[in-house]
Amino acid sequence: MEETWQVAFESIISQILDQGYGILDGFLSDEEISALNERFLLHYQAQAFKKAGISKSHEVVKDIRGDEILWLEKSNAVGIETVFLDRLEQFMGYVNYTCFLGLRSYEIHYASYPVGTFYKRHLDKFRNDSGRKLSFICYLNQNWQPDNGGELVLFLPDSDKTVLPLGGRLIVFESDKIEHEVLPANRERRSLTGWLRNID
Ligand code: OGA
Ligand code: MN
Repeated sequence: MEETWQVAFESIISQILDQGYGILDGFLSDEEISALNERFLLHYQAQAFKKAGISKSHEVVKDIRGDEILWLEKSNAVGIETVFLDRLEQFMGYVNYTCFLGLRSYEIHYASYPVGTFYKRHLDKFRNDSGRKLSFICYLNQNWQPDNGGELVLFLPDSDKTVLPLGGRLIVFESDKIEHEVLPANRERRSLTGWLRNID
């Protein structure tokens, strides 16, 4: 593995072990963010995104979450999408090498939060059979400003942690432990969001 990633991955993993979540800025370069936004727009214009649901019934409940999603499969990925998935797999391998979570698979989707939408406080692992161990979100927002809103709020035992969805930023947290919420934004808010799982 490239030495630069090893140092970055060590850092985010030790943050997760210490505090249940870790943040890594620069998981994507500016060029990579631009390229992923191009892919994002193509998918969006092809009307491939669908309103997200909650729980396994996939019921759409816009009082709870207002995002639109498109699952990204390795078999359909091209170019920069493959680069992204390869980097994620490297991270997953590094987690397994250092902290015995037994990660075996992942699932990931593009997410778009139209202006004014949000995702109310929730836990990602909503039932025991999902195998979700770590949630990860990588933001694709270029030039995001603090007054654009759209913060991710993590509800921690002692205090809340507020995270701006800055382009290239990766956040990873324990899916079954950390409740969190997405606040409304005054700009469309984009990410690649997924889960590392301990089942196939
Ligand atoms: C989710 C989620 C957080 C974010 O999709 O489950 O909590 O910052 N996303 O987009
Ligand atoms: Mn969530």
